[in-house]
Amino acid sequence: MKITFYGHASLGITINDVNILVDPFISANEKASHINIDTLDADYILLTHAHQDHILDVEVIAKRTNAVIISNYEIVSHFQNKGLEGHPMNHGGSWDFEFGMVKYVNAIHTSSFPDGSYGGQPGGFVIEGEHKNIYIAGDTALTMDMKLIPMQTKLDLAILPIGDNFTMGIDDAILASDFVECDKVLGYHFDTFGYIEINHEEAKRKFFDKDKDLMLLDIGESLEL
Ligand code: NI
Ligand code: MN
Repeated sequence: MKITFYGHASLGITINDVNILVDPFISANEKASHINIDTLDADYILLTHAHQDHILDVEVIAKRTNAVIISNYEIVSHFQNKGLEGHPMNHGGSWDFEFGMVKYVNAIHTSSFPDGSYGGQPGGFVIEGEHKNIYIAGDTALTMDMKLIPMQTKLDLAILPIGDNFTMGIDDAILASDFVECDKVLGYHFDTFGYIEINHEEAKRKFFDKDKDLMLLDIGESLEL
């Protein structure tokens, strides 16, 4: 499994030659100006919730790639009404896709579309790939529901928001890492706007002090699991 950070909460995940894009918000992110959305591969697009900083580039990319959009019922319906392909889910549901099992899990946040219309309830994803399992938390507060995840899935990586203000910050992300029983964390949802700027060295040190590993990728950088 290869995971590429495209800035903010945008990720590319490759599992057995299947390309999955998560929450594409790239074209308006000045820090990601070196990423060209017209060259990104996508067989599937996973969306955690309807906020603009998670769905901005969905239409352009899905139209070009015919990617299948996987999200909650309301978000998938919104994009199906625009003629795009989708697979609707809802909280607690899982489905076996060609690349592995996906479960839509709880997040504590909001989920309106940019025009204010209802975007269902926000979520995160557990993905069980052929050899590796990951948790993409989405925008969320720390929540006890995270403790349910390791009862069913042994995670190899937890992707957690760490920017604070709109989501968990560093200290709560460390507790989330305990809750999901995964000490290997990829941080995301930080530095994009003034509200969520973090001190990288302090964040890494706080995780290190708890015998945990916080990875912060440069935009465009990848890791292999
Ligand atoms: Ni949000
Ligand atoms: Mn967000």
